[in-house]
Amino acid sequence: MPAFPDSFLWGAATSGHQVEGNNTSSDVWAMEHVPGSTFHEPSGDACDSYHRYPEDIDLLADAGLNAYRFSVEWSRIEPEKGRFSRAELDHYLRMAATCHERGLTPVVTLSHFTVPAWFARDGAWNQPEAPELFERYCRQVIAHFAGEVTWWVTLNEPNVGALLSASGLLAYGGSAEAAREDPKETFARRVGGEPSTATVALPVTTPEGVANLCEAHRRARTAIRELQPKARVGWSLTIQDFQAGAGGEQRAADMLRQIVEPFLELSKDDDFVGVQTYTRMVFGPDGPLKQPRTERTFQTGWEYYPQALSNAVRLAASFTGVPVLVTEHGIATADDDLRVAYLREALTGLRGAVADGTAVLGYLHWTLLDNWEWHAGYAMTFGLVALDRETFERAPKPSLRYLGRVAATNGACL
Ligand code: NOJ
Repeated sequence: MPAFPDSFLWGAATSGHQVEGNNTSSDVWAMEHVPGSTFHEPSGDACDSYHRYPEDIDLLADAGLNAYRFSVEWSRIEPEKGRFSRAELDHYLRMAATCHERGLTPVVTLSHFTVPAWFARDGAWNQPEAPELFERYCRQVIAHFAGEVTWWVTLNEPNVGALLSASGLLAYGGSAEAAREDPKETFARRVGGEPSTATVALPVTTPEGVANLCEAHRRARTAIRELQPKARVGWSLTIQDFQAGAGGEQRAADMLRQIVEPFLELSKDDDFVGVQTYTRMVFGPDGPLKQPRTERTFQTGWEYYPQALSNAVRLAASFTGVPVLVTEHGIATADDDLRVAYLREALTGLRGAVADGTAVLGYLHWTLLDNWEWHAGYAMTFGLVALDRETFERAPKPSLRYLGRVAATNGACL
């Protein structure tokens, strides 16, 4: 008997800026290139997936997977405010069509952290017009795709800024202070050439910015449902496994209340909630404990804790009452055996959640290819496939075959 539902989505995820290369009209590209940039290295050609996406899609299909989550780049589609590029819309439509040709279900993210440079200059998510501008862009995309894509993720990790500044654990670099800065000033200063320790534009934590992200999601959801009634829409949230250590009960509870529950409230009206889990965070009386509790950690410094996935999934499902789609989960390591072990343990936990009646629609591993990990650059290897950055040759790792086998047996081989 298969352990997961028949229609389960098994696949991997990427984001445009991290794999495409030369995403030159985006805010992050601009910030990568200022003198004194806090980015370890610029994204450059990345994995050249803008041109090599058919190869990427083949890798997934040949491994036996049935889904690919990728993002469309707002800054390519609307490089200048109000001017939409038909050629770029066609490009992404071809990607979706290629997925279908190879038997993969495309899961498309409308904004994965990056935004057009003009949008950032005008204040990013803090500007009052932000939700309306995002809705206008989404309408262009959805209308162009005309039913080719059913699964839509509006925004990637709208709650990550809150997590970064509340926890002091800065996954994407920068400082807690910078994560609280006004993005308009941050961006102006950074592209103005002044060295700064500021972080990327997305992690907005001001109440206005967060309210705008929420409103942008609501508007995009309404637009998608209007234009494409059969679509399934949600957003993807960073939900780590927040645990209380000695004396940390209040801190752990506060964390959930501040950075997870308000966002899950909105998911109650979605078709699914995207869950992105990597590890656990254990709280003491003064905040998250800096030292991981187990010996094994990854390139990110995050703790080996595969149980985190099912704990986060159970939490999201029970809080929202809507099915969960695991939109990201993975580890940054050069040790692929460790990745396989992590996958096996995490997916066994996920199977347990499904057996207990938790509605889970799919598992999309982060990530298909070793790629550009924001502030850390290319040093972190999260991929199921290794990349030669000179030749762009892709070399599947054993973990890709492993995930393919799990997919082929729908979890029975775990
Ligand atoms: C979440 C983000 O969505 C993705 O862009 C990032 O690379 C991974 N986590 C790993 O940090």
